Amino acid sequence: MIIDGKKESELIRQEIKKEIDAIKSSNKKVPGLSVILIGNYPPSEIYVRNKQKSSIEVGINSEIIKYPKDVTENEVLKKIQDLNDNENVSGILVQLPLPEHISKKKIINMINPLKDVDGFNPINVGNLASGYKAIVPCTPLGCLLLIKKIEKNLTGKHAVIVGRSNLNGKPMAQLLLKENCTVTIVHSKTKDLKAECQKADILVAAVGVAKLIKADWIKKQSIVIDVGINKVGDKIVGDVNFDEVKDKVKAITPVPGGVGPMTIACLLKNTLECFKGR
Ligand code: GUN
Repeated sequence: MIIDGKKESELIRQEIKKEIDAIKSSNKKVPGLSVILIGNYPPSEIYVRNKQKSSIEVGINSEIIKYPKDVTENEVLKKIQDLNDNENVSGILVQLPLPEHISKKKIINMINPLKDVDGFNPINVGNLASGYKAIVPCTPLGCLLLIKKIEKNLTGKHAVIVGRSNLNGKPMAQLLLKENCTVTIVHSKTKDLKAECQKADILVAAVGVAKLIKADWIKKQSIVIDVGINKVGDKIVGDVNFDEVKDKVKAITPVPGGVGPMTIACLLKNTLECFKGR
């Protein structure tokens, strides 16, 4: 089965739109999302544009705040402080990667954890790791929603996550632990990647290496979630060799059209949650 992330994300967006329409009709303020974009890295420009377009479609007030790549760190920090203090702003997102002279750590720490729609602030990271209420990073949250569409009860399943990033691998592991999975994180220094992947009932690939995962790495009837977005020539491919793997598994996400649309849907979901939380 090929998991239709576009369809799933559309269902979530419809729910969000309904809820925001109801908020609007009772004459309350609507959620607001401020996105900060620094420099002109083309993929970031595309992601940010898509985030804004989707926000507007569901009724979220969305603004993009653009800075040239040589903007000072202080100017961005000051802007984040202004957004923290602005009650019309429910969510703040600073698109990554940042130019080298700007500290990711300082920027992420400056965002009010209650407005941190990415869930990257250490307060949210810590709350998630502790099993408390937290804003959960959009991509792993989207992956979990897709996995749970296929399999409601994940208790005792062996989940293998390929990649250990703060954006994907680590929060994905926390979410699957909460679902009572046995979780293994593998990465570039793992001794036998293939052997570890072969144990996976659920495999989440988030390394950014085109078609790394082959058919003989995969357990039959497993669920495979591909977070990779890799440009090969003029095509976008995932971290999994989709054509090789698709007939062996219970379910797999395609690239594009799998996890990508879910990331945006979860951003809208997080923005609405931040709005309601206040
Ligand atoms: N760059 C790539 N993915 C993301 C994301 O989910 N959030 C932010 N802020 N930047 C990104």
